[in-house]
Amino acid sequence: MIAYNSQRVAYPYFVVALFLFALQVILGLWLAINYAFGLPQSIVDVFPFSTARAFHTNLLVLWMLLGFMGGTYFMVPEETRSELFSTKLAYIQLILLVGAGVAALVGFLFGWNQGRPLLEIPFELDLVIVVGALIFLFNVGVTMIRAKNWTVIQGTLLGGLIFLALLYLFGIPFYKNLSIDWYYWWWVIHLWVEGAWELVTGAIIAWILLQITGVNRQVVEKWLYIVIGLFLFTGIAGTGHHYYWLGAPRYWLWIGGIFSALEPVPIIFMMWDTYRNVKERQKPITNPIVWTLAVGLAIYHFIGAGLWGFLHTLPQINYYTHGSQVTVSHGHMAFFGAYALLNLTIFYYAFPRLKGIGRFNQNLGYWGFWITGIAMFLMGLAFGVAGVLQSYLERFLGMGYMTTQLTMQLWFKIVIFFGVCFLIGVIIIIYDLLRMRPAAPETA
Ligand code: HEM
Ligand code: HEM
Ligand SMILES: [Fe+2]
Repeated sequence: MIAYNSQRVAYPYFVVALFLFALQVILGLWLAINYAFGLPQSIVDVFPFSTARAFHTNLLVLWMLLGFMGGTYFMVPEETRSELFSTKLAYIQLILLVGAGVAALVGFLFGWNQGRPLLEIPFELDLVIVVGALIFLFNVGVTMIRAKNWTVIQGTLLGGLIFLALLYLFGIPFYKNLSIDWYYWWWVIHLWVEGAWELVTGAIIAWILLQITGVNRQVVEKWLYIVIGLFLFTGIAGTGHHYYWLGAPRYWLWIGGIFSALEPVPIIFMMWDTYRNVKERQKPITNPIVWTLAVGLAIYHFIGAGLWGFLHTLPQINYYTHGSQVTVSHGHMAFFGAYALLNLTIFYYAFPRLKGIGRFNQNLGYWGFWITGIAMFLMGLAFGVAGVLQSYLERFLGMGYMTTQLTMQLWFKIVIFFGVCFLIGVIIIIYDLLRMRPAAPETA
């Protein structure tokens, strides 16, 4: 059921990604326990909150990138109509990246850590990541160049991946001036999720929709141009919404406020575009769960990133909510809505094909989608209430930090409850994907 043999390299990428996803969520629960109950000093000495948080967020980035890379290896042969340049390189790359990931986690336990959130991994391991990324870009780039079947989807994907890799470089040096250090830190964090990753999402989703709906490629590609142009236009200047309070010039209040407030526009376009593709489909639906996930992605992307981002992006509001649990609420809903669902869409499209399965029972997939989707939404709301309490009591009324934390604990307990529900949903999805077997041959 796959057209090219080399597409198989995607499978180990997906399996590792799923395993790391589960681990990430378990650490999320652990973090919430830290907030909801507090911990005895003996545990904090060995496994402090900051280390657990570094585990949670680095695992997040690693599994999502592995998912995107596997997804790229899965789609590039079909899109270029040629085998991958080298499957061997793809396996070496996977081993390098997973090796760096494991070394990073073990290192964190012993304080081998650069300290900057999300980019904690030490310089030496950064170099391994860079080598892994170069192998990846080389492999994908050479495949595309040799095949000479350029399409807008391929160009966008390759462009997004190169942009993604280049930005990572800005997070490697450490600047003694902390304002400057954070300035570039945001080039990685913000320009990743609100720039490069959006291009990758645009390309992958356009491709999957093209496959499952059979709509006109020219129309899909025309829209891709518009959406990407808008993402870059609003997202690059929108970086300013992180420069309000870190010592950058005052004009960022204006630039950041105006451009980031426009960032929901391309997301709305993307949602509308998905809707249109679904409506104008040319084929019967053979794999409805992929369909549901893609539509879910479009809507959740809008809620988590567009709406929840917009709520605190203007400086007048961000002044109170900056760095509070309001940010955490948005961070969860946006990452889940856009990038976790993108990965799940890729997995549910690719797994049956990699396993040579035509039709399969989709019930568990639906359960997984609805449980994780609803649990994450309610968990996000609980973080949000904690964040509004925090902003109001601490920033507006000027209450002490710890006093405020005590009033928030109830909401962290609620986070734990929905977090457990979320974990159950994740386990269902992993079980469903791994267990998927070819159905008995149909008798005519
Ligand atoms: C899928 C896209 C997005 C993802 C994954 C995402 C994720 C995140 C994360 C994880 C943070 C916290 C970073 C940190 O301080 O550690 C953050 C901060 C922020 N995001 Fe997003 N975001 C997305 C899109 C957007 C959009 C479109 C907007 C605006 C409309 C937005 C507005 C903000 C703002 C204002 C902050 C800073 C909050 C603060 O001052 O503490 N985000 N985002
Ligand atoms: C059981 C599920 C989960 C729980 C209970 C949980 C809990 C937490 C907690 C307590 C934090 C620390 C917030 C802080 O520093 O104040 C955190 C950070 C974070 N989590 Fe989760 N998490 C879960 C799942 C996830 C998932 C599935 C994603 C992504 C799709 C995710 C993305 C993040 C991000 C991006 C941050 C950093 C937020 C920021 O910088 O503002 N988490 N999580
Ligand atoms: Fe941002």
